[in-house]
Amino acid sequence: MALRKMEDPSINLKENDGEELDEKLLHSKDEHRKHFEERIKRIEASEKNSQQEEVRPTETINPINKEEKVVHEQSTEKAEGSGEMLNASTETSVEKEPGDRSEDAEKAATPVENITSVIETGKEKKDITKEKKSMSGTGTECAKEESPKQASEVLPTKQATEDKNNLQPNLSNISQVPNSTRKITFPEGFLWGVSTSAYQIEGGNENDWSIWEKEGRRMLKVMERTKNPEEFICGQACDSYNRYEEDFDLALELNNNSFRLGIEWSRVEKNKGIWNVDEIKHYRNVLRAAKKRGLTTVVTLWHWTLPSWLAREGGLISKQLEEKFMRYVEMVIGELGGDIDYWVTLNEPMIAALNAYISKRWPPNKKSILKYRKAIKNLAKVHKASYKMIHDRFPDARVGFSNLTNFIEPKHKWLITDRIVAAIFESMWNKWFINKTIDQVDYIGMSYYFHDRVISYPPFVKNDNNETTDMGWEIYPAGIYHVLKQLAKYKKPIMIIENGIADAEDKHRSKFIKDHLENVHKAILEGVEVIGYFHWSLLDNFEWDSGYGPKFGLYKVDRKTFERTPRPSAAVYAQICKENAVEI
Ligand code: BGC
Repeated sequence: MALRKMEDPSINLKENDGEELDEKLLHSKDEHRKHFEERIKRIEASEKNSQQEEVRPTETINPINKEEKVVHEQSTEKAEGSGEMLNASTETSVEKEPGDRSEDAEKAATPVENITSVIETGKEKKDITKEKKSMSGTGTECAKEESPKQASEVLPTKQATEDKNNLQPNLSNISQVPNSTRKITFPEGFLWGVSTSAYQIEGGNENDWSIWEKEGRRMLKVMERTKNPEEFICGQACDSYNRYEEDFDLALELNNNSFRLGIEWSRVEKNKGIWNVDEIKHYRNVLRAAKKRGLTTVVTLWHWTLPSWLAREGGLISKQLEEKFMRYVEMVIGELGGDIDYWVTLNEPMIAALNAYISKRWPPNKKSILKYRKAIKNLAKVHKASYKMIHDRFPDARVGFSNLTNFIEPKHKWLITDRIVAAIFESMWNKWFINKTIDQVDYIGMSYYFHDRVISYPPFVKNDNNETTDMGWEIYPAGIYHVLKQLAKYKKPIMIIENGIADAEDKHRSKFIKDHLENVHKAILEGVEVIGYFHWSLLDNFEWDSGYGPKFGLYKVDRKTFERTPRPSAAVYAQICKENAVEI
């Protein structure tokens, strides 16, 4: 790839970011945990007195209110990147300041082979192409420290290792306490986290979605549904662009050892071929802030949004997609790769293609089977090429993508037509992308939200819907078990990258989490290699074409002040993550 020098050589990314970050870390992990636990204890005590507890007797933790709030000063940095630019066609590298980053990032600070430093000339260029990425600080330690377990309950486990073998859970660690209150424990080193995406929480992004949201035709449609069309424009989202440290602190309150976040391509390459240095630096700070808190980073490279220049050139069906995406991946590898523990190249490619090119719900609102197929093929190519490029640089990298995997079954098992249609749906929806890419994944990333009881005539899905989320989606925890069992046949570790519920009143969330985890545990006991669970989501965020209506957050977000307030289920999830176990 041809490299050119950045137009303005005065740009200098050397800053004492690390020290600044240290200072900004007002709340250490331990302090946070202590603080959160104290809050929970206080609330437990007061709720006990008032006898207003609603949770089942076997549960050990009570709902919490936001009694105290941690006030964080909002950064004066603006959310929109208007910073200095690098020319992407020449690629970028960012000079490091000694001691200004974590060890992993140090290794990655020198850009990938072929990428020349464009910040300052004459700097030494290390050959790092053969360096291995260290996976230290993956959060395993965190789980070990924070999961005091009854001696009888936990059998000896092997030490988590840095290599891929570590992905195999140690089943000897899993046990059950046969009692009226059953406690199920998860494998040591299990990843507990929350899942987020850049566009849905950052705010201030400009891309194909932000343009589409404000289009006249779309606005007219929105106004048929609501008097408040602002609710359907992403805008400042949760202001996480400025509050990412606060978000990571919340993850520590939840006793998480991992965090899934996204990089917004349109931020770092807002204009075609020009890297935005400030935004790259921003993501480096974000990743380092996560690592400094001991969080394992699970990083999504593409979560549905595209730079507007690429959307104009055809977006997902553009012939240029692979080349442009690979240029972006190369930049991420070189500039940020050292702080990425798990790579999620693509988020749920099948639903993205479906809603863009069949259902017309999302930009560019087209209806064409050919385009749909082209988009999926393009995305599969992009994933494979990314896998190779990431592994060329980091041989031990853990690379996957996220697959929206539904539990699909025939409504009437005795009816051959239902069975055939269910089998077709399953192979088209759950398996197509995985089958295409299985040799290029180190783990299978899956999200589970849907149960589909299939019939052989429109609307093809007829669920019982005894209990539903605020989105009207059936709550069906057993489905996650079946999906895990189906995925087990690929013989790869499985990460539950998303599972969550829109539940504004938090009536179902605690039970939802426990019931799903009980089913995950059942699959693990039967030998399925599940390495982590990421709840969708930390915050109430921008739910795509449904706007801000659906509330998926363990924490509420005030739409004006962006203040985060835990819902009662946050304490339940925190307890689970702390104990690496669920009481059911
Ligand atoms: C997506 C998220 C979305 C969630 C809830 C997932 O499939 O990755 O972006 O918010 O579903 O709809």
